[in-house]
Amino acid sequence: MNAHFSEARSADIAIERISADAPPRLVEVVSSLVRHLHAFAKETRLTQEEWELGIDFLTKTGQICSDERQEFILLSDVLGLSMLVDAINNRRPAAATENTVFGPFHVANAPFREMGDNICLDGKGEPCLFEGSVVDLDGNAITGACVDVWSDNAEGYYDVQQPGIQPKWNNRGRFLTGEDGRYVFKGIKPISYPIPDDGPVGKMLEALGRHPYRPAHMHFLVTAPGYQRLVTHTFVEDDPYLESDAVFGVKETLIANYKRVDGGDIAWRSTFGFVLAPL
Ligand code: BEZ
Ligand code: FE
Repeated sequence: MNAHFSEARSADIAIERISADAPPRLVEVVSSLVRHLHAFAKETRLTQEEWELGIDFLTKTGQICSDERQEFILLSDVLGLSMLVDAINNRRPAAATENTVFGPFHVANAPFREMGDNICLDGKGEPCLFEGSVVDLDGNAITGACVDVWSDNAEGYYDVQQPGIQPKWNNRGRFLTGEDGRYVFKGIKPISYPIPDDGPVGKMLEALGRHPYRPAHMHFLVTAPGYQRLVTHTFVEDDPYLESDAVFGVKETLIANYKRVDGGDIAWRSTFGFVLAPL
């Protein structure tokens, strides 16, 4: 076989260079990637200038990354790749609650709080009661499930985006279910907000005529021994961005009811039950 380059055999030539001793899965993934990249360049008849623009875009994407910012994951998110990988890896029985994108704003080891506690520490926003149960596929309550929650504040920012402005752990907390499997906490009705759009990904969205907004949501990470880890959100049912989430995170089953509550210190109530699939 001629190993010299030709346009017609370009992908095969690059793939044939991989050592027979390389790990089989690595060979499979890289070979497929090379095949798709070459097919993409051929299909679009990629120009030299476009190739340079792509390299420059990826370079800038890497350069803006830091311990606090992961622009490559954001790129994966806005291209729908994060949701696809999540879907492939979390195929569950229909009755189990669906996953959605994790996002960059989770902070591990948030404080444990008592059931009913308020996670809103800055006193801003419309108070909302979140409640429901964590059950298995047969509807049995799961005791000792950890319900880890986080949301933006009334201005659309997570606490970690505004250190020194928002109190630490604002709108976050962990709750452990008791024997009834129920959770209840106070927070605020989340609002829609733009994903970080001051970098290359934001510029790309603008060039593509796409907005950077996510529909309002409360994040949930629900874990319990013997069950699959659930990474999800509940979305506010009347949000204008439900059909155009910048990161494709919305699933029909995750749209939650938000009912007005008259009187008292709570303005809204959102009830949502989580069903965990076994490991
Ligand atoms: C979030 O919901 O926190 C999020 C998800 C993906 C990208 C940016 C933010
Ligand atoms: Fe979010």
